[in-house]
Amino acid sequence: MIDRRKFLAATAVSSAISKAEEKLAVSGGAPVRATALKADFWGTQYYDEKEQQQLMDVLSTRRPFRWYGPGGEPPAKVAGFEKEFAARMQTRYALGVTSGTAALQCAMAALQIGPGDEVILPAWTWHSCFNAIVLAGALPVFAEIDESFNIDPADIESKITPQTKAIMAVHLQGNPCDMDRIIPIARKYNCRLIEDCAQSVGASYKGRPLGSMADISIYSLQINKTITSGEGGAVVTNDPVLFERASRFHDLGSLRAPHEKIVGGRRVDPFPGANLRMSEFTGAVLLAQLRKLDSVVTAIRKNADRIYEGLHEFPGLHLRRLPDPAGELGSAIYLGFRAKDLRDRFMAAMKAENVPAVPPTGSVLLPTQPHVEKKQTLHPAWPSFNSERGRSIQYGAACCPRTMDILSRFAGVLLDPKFTSRETDDILAAIQKVYPVIARS
Ligand SMILES: Cc1ncc(COP(=O)(O)O)c(C=O)c1O
Repeated sequence: MIDRRKFLAATAVSSAISKAEEKLAVSGGAPVRATALKADFWGTQYYDEKEQQQLMDVLSTRRPFRWYGPGGEPPAKVAGFEKEFAARMQTRYALGVTSGTAALQCAMAALQIGPGDEVILPAWTWHSCFNAIVLAGALPVFAEIDESFNIDPADIESKITPQTKAIMAVHLQGNPCDMDRIIPIARKYNCRLIEDCAQSVGASYKGRPLGSMADISIYSLQINKTITSGEGGAVVTNDPVLFERASRFHDLGSLRAPHEKIVGGRRVDPFPGANLRMSEFTGAVLLAQLRKLDSVVTAIRKNADRIYEGLHEFPGLHLRRLPDPAGELGSAIYLGFRAKDLRDRFMAAMKAENVPAVPPTGSVLLPTQPHVEKKQTLHPAWPSFNSERGRSIQYGAACCPRTMDILSRFAGVLLDPKFTSRETDDILAAIQKVYPVIARS
C-alpha cells in the first residue's frame, strides 16, 4: 500500500513540475484565482449567541465591574475567565488585564524589573515589549532573530551581562521559540524568563502550552489575536509571589480578597500600581471565546497542515524554521529566498495569482525606529538610558544586521481558520506554480 505522505509528496513534485510549466499570471497567464484571497480576523468570525448570552448576563445583572456590583452573588465573568484560562494554559494562576501591553507591564512589576536592570528582547517584535522595559526604567538589549523569526538563542547568550535580569521569549506569528535552548540559558545565567504569547495564543511547544514554561507569561486578546474581545490581555504564572505582585500592580497596589484566597494569603507589601483591571464585559466575551480556542486552533492548523503536506518534499523549498511544527498555530506559510529581489518578485507574482504574499508582518524592526534609535523617553531624567551603560548602548541598524537580512528574504501567505479547503488548495497551487519559477531564476 502506498504511504499517504509519499503519495502527497509525489503528487506535490509532479504537480510542481506541471504547475511550473503553466504561464505565471504576472507574465500574462491565467491566475490561480479570479479574486484576491484575504485572511480575516480570526476570533470575531466565531462570535455567535454564546458571546451574546455572556454579554447579556452582565447587562441584565447590571454587574459590569469585576469585584462587586448589585445583587448578592459576586460578579463571575473575569474570575471565570481567569480560572479557565489558567487551566487551559496549564498554569496555577491567571490574571485578566486590559491588554497585552498591560500584561507585560504587570510581568515587569511582578519580576521587580527596574532601573539598572537589563532585559533581552528580539530586535523584531511589537512596540509593547520595548515599551514595557523602558516604562519600568530598565534597559532593553536587542538580540537577533533566526529564520524562525523568533529570538536567536545563540545571540541571547552573547548579550548577557551581570545586569541581565530577564529574557523575553516572544513567540511570533504562531511560531514557538526554541525553548529547549532558551530555558537552559536562562537557568545558566540565573535570569528570569518571560514568554510573550500575544501572537500565539493556543499554540504549544513539544506538548506544553505556550506560556507554561517561563517564570511569568503574557497573552494579548486584541482583535488581531487568536481569540478576542477587541482589547484584553492575560498574565499567567505558577509562582504565588509573582501572581500577587502582578495582581497588585494591575489594581493600584491592592490585593483583593478573591486573589488573596487563590494564592493562599498575602506575602507582599502594598506598592503603587496602575489600574489595568478587566471589565466584566470583556471577561464575558473572553469566557465564550476561550471555550472556542481549541476549535479555532484546530481549524487554522488543519489549513496549515493541508498546505505543508502538499509542500512536503517540494523541490528546493525553504520554509520559515519551525522549532515544533506540531505546536505551531499555522498563522502563515512563510517561504525564504536567496535574496530580497527574488522575494519581491515572488510577492509580485503571487499577487498576480490573486494569492497575495506579504513580508514578515505583525512586528516592527525596533532598533531602527527613530525614537528607539534616539533613546527618547517621556522625561529627560528617565533612568533607562541615563546610566553609563544606558548612554553607551547603541541601537539602530548596526545592532541587527542578521534580523534585517532575514526579514528581507522571506514572504508568506497569511492563513485564516475559516478558509475553505478550496481556498487552502488555491494557496498551495499558487506556491507550487510560482515558487519554482522564482527560486530557480
Ligand atoms: C508580541 C506582542 N507583544 C505584546 C503585544 C501587546 O498586546 P496588546 O495590543 O493587547 O496591548 C502585542 C500586540 O500585538 C504583540 O504582538
